[in-house]
Amino acid sequence: MSIDVVALKQQYPALRREVAGHPVIHADAPGGTQVPEMVIDAMTNYLRGSNANSGGAFVTSEETDALITGARKAAADLLGCSPDEVAFGWNMTTLNFALSRALARNLTTDDEIVVTMLDHDANISPWLAVAEDTGATVKWADIDDSDCTLDMRSLDAALSERTRIVAFTMASNAVGTIPRAKEITARAHATGALAIADAVHYAPHGPIDVKDIGVDALLCSPYKFYGPHLGIFYAPKEHLDRWRPYKVRPASDEAPDRWETGTMSHEALAGLTACVDHLASLGHGSDRRSRITSAMAETVQHEGGLSARFIDAVSRMAHVKLFGISDPGRLEERTPTFALTVAGKSPLEVAKRFGAEGVFVWDGNYYALAVMERLGLEDHGGAVRIGFCRYHSTDDVDRVTELLAAMG
Ligand SMILES: Cc1ncc(COP(=O)(O)O)c(C=O)c1O
Repeated sequence: MSIDVVALKQQYPALRREVAGHPVIHADAPGGTQVPEMVIDAMTNYLRGSNANSGGAFVTSEETDALITGARKAAADLLGCSPDEVAFGWNMTTLNFALSRALARNLTTDDEIVVTMLDHDANISPWLAVAEDTGATVKWADIDDSDCTLDMRSLDAALSERTRIVAFTMASNAVGTIPRAKEITARAHATGALAIADAVHYAPHGPIDVKDIGVDALLCSPYKFYGPHLGIFYAPKEHLDRWRPYKVRPASDEAPDRWETGTMSHEALAGLTACVDHLASLGHGSDRRSRITSAMAETVQHEGGLSARFIDAVSRMAHVKLFGISDPGRLEERTPTFALTVAGKSPLEVAKRFGAEGVFVWDGNYYALAVMERLGLEDHGGAVRIGFCRYHSTDDVDRVTELLAAMG
């Protein structure tokens, strides 16, 4: 069944904006997606009527407590876990620094941490800092630069009986590659290490089942999947109970609460629940989790079509070099996120030209520093990043590729 993108777009007020006489194409989706009206309403309604701190003996505070409970249920339905296995924070980066600091308490100079070249720096730098503080050694898993996939032999070579943590991405925010998360987790576990997954880029593009993957922690950010700016942290309850986060004394010592430092953005949590309900409203099934899963399966199909169309057009442009998987038979191994360079033009120049036409694309390294360095792009302004998501149509892809063709 194909997606009705026209109807979907109508739910997103930002998609009505025009630049240069055209509706804007937000091909900056990997940097952050737009939000549907119901998310905006949920956030403003909270601020209008229920705004309070949590834990008070009065109605708005009670409503706030209920809202937090509801947001945990929503995140749990999204990820396939129990609500008490979910904690919230400002964003993935902040949560990962908190997680890595907590895990650092048990690391010594004998220990090793594996990070990958495919990761966003938010799942690299926290571990480099931990290694610096504890004397642990960092080992890198490389990529195969012919198609920007994670080199599993390099991963195996980096693993040893000393490995304590394997930090990996579920999808590259630069080149779109989707590594095999379940297999990476199994290999980490086989050496006795914890597997920590960054699902920030993956989350808008496919279903997540943390129990099926078996990860020890997973982080993602709702602003990448049609929700507000916020971070979500999942870990099995036994880990959340056992690992010791840094916290203030009066705050609850119960997990998951003890992982949440200070007052949260309650309006963002209201937005998260609405965003998960929005995703569920796009699918079918008897409960919210199954509706989300079915909606995400449709997203995979829809976005695969966008990728095929984009790759087909770009493959006929001699002036465009695309990094990452371009084989139409392997589209399930990538998201519709494309890093490319245009001959004779810097990525910034290309992004500016697109921007003037109302097509928003990114340039630079988008904090995927290791990938950009590995591909030799970092010293040349990085690459142009064009990213699509569920609310993009084939017409959107065509407009982008027409503009790209005109740059030859
Ligand atoms: C793959 C990936 N990981 C981590 C991050 C950082 O997420 P946050 O902005 O929530 O800290 C991003 C942001 O772009 C990302 O794309």
